[in-house]
Amino acid sequence: MLNRRFILVAAQALSLIGSAIAEPYNTFDGPGFPACRDVAKVYSPKTIEEAMSIVKDASDKGLPVRASGNGHMWYDTMCSDDPRTIIIKTENLNRISDLVLNGDKGTVVVEGGVTFSQVAEWLHQRGASLGYTLVNWNISLGGAMAMGAHRSSLGEHSQVSTSALSFDIINGKGELVHLDRDQSSDTWLAATTSLGLLGIIARIKIEILADFKVYANQETVDEKDVLNGDIYAEISPYVTANYWWWPGLKKFHKRTYGVVPITKSGNAFQSTFSVTSLEASLAKSLLNAGQNSSIQNFITEAIFYAIWAAPNFHDKKTNLPLFSWPVHGYAYDVLIGGLYPNTKTEWDYDMRGLTFEVAVPVTQANRLLKRMRELFDESAAEGKAVTSTYRSGINIKFGKPFDSFLGQTTTLQSDKSADWSKGAIMLDFPTFRPSTGDHSRYNEAWYAKMQKTIIDEFPTRPHWTKVTRNIIQQSVKNLDPALLARFSAVREQFDPKKTFKSVVGEIIGVV
Ligand SMILES: Cc1cc2nc3c(=O)[nH]c(=O)nc-3n(C[C@H](O)[C@H](O)[C@H](O)COP(=O)(O)OP(=O)(O)OC[C@H]3O[C@@H](n4cnc5c(N)ncnc54)[C@H](O)[C@@H]3O)c2cc1C
Ligand SMILES: *[C@@H]1O[C@H](CO)[C@@H](O)[C@H](O)[C@H]1NC(C)=O
Ligand SMILES: *[C@@H]1O[C@H](CO)[C@@H](O)[C@H](O)[C@H]1NC(C)=O
Repeated sequence: MLNRRFILVAAQALSLIGSAIAEPYNTFDGPGFPACRDVAKVYSPKTIEEAMSIVKDASDKGLPVRASGNGHMWYDTMCSDDPRTIIIKTENLNRISDLVLNGDKGTVVVEGGVTFSQVAEWLHQRGASLGYTLVNWNISLGGAMAMGAHRSSLGEHSQVSTSALSFDIINGKGELVHLDRDQSSDTWLAATTSLGLLGIIARIKIEILADFKVYANQETVDEKDVLNGDIYAEISPYVTANYWWWPGLKKFHKRTYGVVPITKSGNAFQSTFSVTSLEASLAKSLLNAGQNSSIQNFITEAIFYAIWAAPNFHDKKTNLPLFSWPVHGYAYDVLIGGLYPNTKTEWDYDMRGLTFEVAVPVTQANRLLKRMRELFDESAAEGKAVTSTYRSGINIKFGKPFDSFLGQTTTLQSDKSADWSKGAIMLDFPTFRPSTGDHSRYNEAWYAKMQKTIIDEFPTRPHWTKVTRNIIQQSVKNLDPALLARFSAVREQFDPKKTFKSVVGEIIGVV
């Protein structure tokens, strides 16, 4: 008896020590912004074999594991809330090999931790490009494919995992499982939006294109013309296109991209996030001043709108700003780009954002935007008008249909009352998180009401790394139980011991 009691006390003491050691694993926003609330250890294996043995060891000991690329996600949904969790950072799994280019098209093999900018630069030096399956520059291909990340297009596939021809995934036993593309296989349909629940995406063979040049153009459209327009017809002709909404001004910027001959002059290089320290301190004081002032937010929005009307492009060779539309350059430089010399990202200046992204069938695009307008009008009628507090407004994106069990543009759902066959519109609503007071935004209550209204009134599908736990919980009712069950069955084969855990998986019930 005494003995048993002693063991119990000792075990409690040990677990206390354990939790004292455990610390948060942060997102790109750094301390105060955990991707995982408590983790025990972070590994950075140099080879896939090393990663396999870490997983095998953890799985033998019953420890939860998560892969992580660059932490480019917003909320504490990466892991489960288990302080024994270990993270396998993929930054050193970044080899690129086996380039094959035949005319316009080709393939290349990459390891899962490689970032978009690394692959894009490597390919550009060899006359090739990633095409349209892109997200921002400092994100790993494995992380983007796991979470169903995408850019914005109805004309071309732009969910990153649509480019995958094969995956090598480290499963829950630490074995490497090879899968080849097969849209008729449940395994493939699970793997193309796997949420990291099948295992670590270690290696991917992807489709690529011969290098090419594109233009970027931008025009201003009145809000009523978008809300009442044929949005599908406006967006679908382009290889990539999106709107930025400025609700306070009742305007949209419409950004479009298209292919031009490779001989076309121009070396335009885009940046969405570069800021100088002067710009950062101005923007920060304007935005913080809006914490308790609606009018200030409208003034700030007008300033951002005016700045965003000009190209967010420099000439890559001279680093001089480009002043007029359209601009031209190599595909990756124009579609994504990177950081301008001597600038930093806004988050490096301690400017933080909150975000919310859901997809709705593009056939309901007008109804969605009109409902958002009503919600903005309600905030004004209550005397607490809300508007955009982000340097590029509210991002309205699009996605061509691509079937995977958990993707935002799948057409596999059994409820056909929502028509996903033409693709999706995504409401991607970033906001400034004040660094002052309790960090709440002006009319904070409105955001929760808006989000609930949209989720309740539309068949929304969340972006898996751009919503909070609470939003995922609210979204479950809009997910198809049959697809969740088929996903779970594949997960059972890959990870019967549930080594790869996340709160996302727990909330949607694929555990
Ligand atoms: C500035 C910025 C811009 C962005 N732009 C876009 C955009 O245009 N479109 C879009 O859709 N998204 C965008 N995102 C979101 C981003 O694409 C996703 O959050 C992506 O998952 C982040 O990948 P990461 O490599 O940083 O991985 P992390 O943030 O480290 O991980 C994200 C999730 O993926 C899992 N994971 C990571 N690597 C692997 C792997 N190799 N195998 C299995 N699971 C893995 C992690 O466990 C975690 O659950 C953006 C994010 C930021 C910060
Ligand atoms: C890319 O992300 C990593 C991890 O967040 C960070 O250390 C690095 O500075 C980033 N690079 C750029 C160019 O922002
Ligand atoms: C807004 O009001 C709150 C509550 O009074 C306060 O804590 C915060 O500092 C204010 N913000 C600014 C920027 O003045």
